[in-house]
Amino acid sequence: MKIIIVNDYEEMSKKAANIISSQIILNSSSVLGFATGDTPLGTYKKLVNTYNEGDIDFAEIKTFNLDEYYHLPKDNTQSYNFYMTENLFKQVNVKPQNIHIPNGMCESIEEECLNYENAIEQADGINLQLLGIGTNGHIGFNEPDVKFEATTHLVHLDEETIHANSRFFDSIEEVPTKAISMGIKTIMQAKKIVLLASGIEKSEAIYNTVRGHITPEVPASVLQLHPDVTIIVDNNAASRL
Ligand code: F6R
Repeated sequence: MKIIIVNDYEEMSKKAANIISSQIILNSSSVLGFATGDTPLGTYKKLVNTYNEGDIDFAEIKTFNLDEYYHLPKDNTQSYNFYMTENLFKQVNVKPQNIHIPNGMCESIEEECLNYENAIEQADGINLQLLGIGTNGHIGFNEPDVKFEATTHLVHLDEETIHANSRFFDSIEEVPTKAISMGIKTIMQAKKIVLLASGIEKSEAIYNTVRGHITPEVPASVLQLHPDVTIIVDNNAASRL
């Protein structure tokens, strides 16, 4: 694991956007894995700026998002589909047919998950996967007690995650309790992984990920086994390292 400690959120976002931009410059038909949540917002903003300056081109880029809430329509402002459209996709020249996000409104979970895995395989795998991390150590929506061998599947969100995500909804009752998420196996198959964390509330999860035992209780700890992981953390998230 390569750990980069930076001063603040701004610097974390800049470094992450630079790494993703380099990936796009080196391979203009890269397959990128994206995350949602608060953490990557600054990264997406900087990627849009770099695109507007003419330094990167998304015309041949393929994207796969980590997860989507189950049974939340795409046009719901809290869906991850809506988030990605607003914060990145509609601001760059990525082709709609190259965008992949699990369909939370699918009729058959099994079919949707299988199709998602097949689409990643047909794209020749993910070149660079961007990750955030939950305060409980989750990556994607792989909650503690995860099965490391799982591929894309339906997950039941932890109370801690539902509580954390309620900040985006009018009330906690509105937060979906299930999601479709890439599994740990899917994430671990990405060729390169970049995990971002900022804020003191992530410090314990970062400590357990980097210094703790590899255990399903801390899903991100499995990243210790991946050959190419870069963790970019601000001083607060790194404070227990
Ligand atoms: C989002 C995702 C989650 C988040 C994590 C941190 O697609 O997969 O694992 O990365 O919950 O969320 P924030 O960044 O909002 O603290």
